[in-house]
Amino acid sequence: MKCLKKTGVVLALLACGFGGIAQAQQKSGEQTYKDVCMVCHAAGVANAPKLGDAKAWAPLIKEGQAVLTAHAWVGVRGMPARGGSPNLSQEDFAKAVAYMANSAGGKWKDPDTKLMAAIQAEEKKRIVELKVKK
Ligand code: HEC
Repeated sequence: MKCLKKTGVVLALLACGFGGIAQAQQKSGEQTYKDVCMVCHAAGVANAPKLGDAKAWAPLIKEGQAVLTAHAWVGVRGMPARGGSPNLSQEDFAKAVAYMANSAGGKWKDPDTKLMAAIQAEEKKRIVELKVKK
């Protein structure tokens, strides 16, 4: 019994410990926006759609979360791939897109596994599209 109890405590510690580490690595969309996207998207550098600009974001929001996120991730004209931040994960990028869309009237959620898969499918399509155009 004693041993079982101890094992329980150790398991709980491990689970909470690792959970804590995983949490610390996850950034909110707002945080990524501030760290990476704000330099261009606050002032609208090179016509970047500004945070909170409902008019600029309305047609983008219409594209749908998976499509818009994938296109921005791959890069669109003045918008550099991954927001110019090669170490950014696709999930954190997607959250930042959702944060910006929501600042301008969108009702997007942080992506779940299903949405991440949809984003990756759109990303593949987009890369093929861009190759065909060239
Ligand atoms: C170096 C400046 C710059 C940075 C940094 C940047 N963007 Fe952009 N972004 C742009 C510009 C410019 C456009 C407009 C592109 C166009 O339509 O010509 C844009 C467009 C977009 C769009 C709309 C794409 C479309 O299909 O029209 C999204 C979404 C976006 N950015 C998300 C982000 C996110 C998320 C980040 C941070 C992780 C980020 N951007 C960082 C410059 C930037």
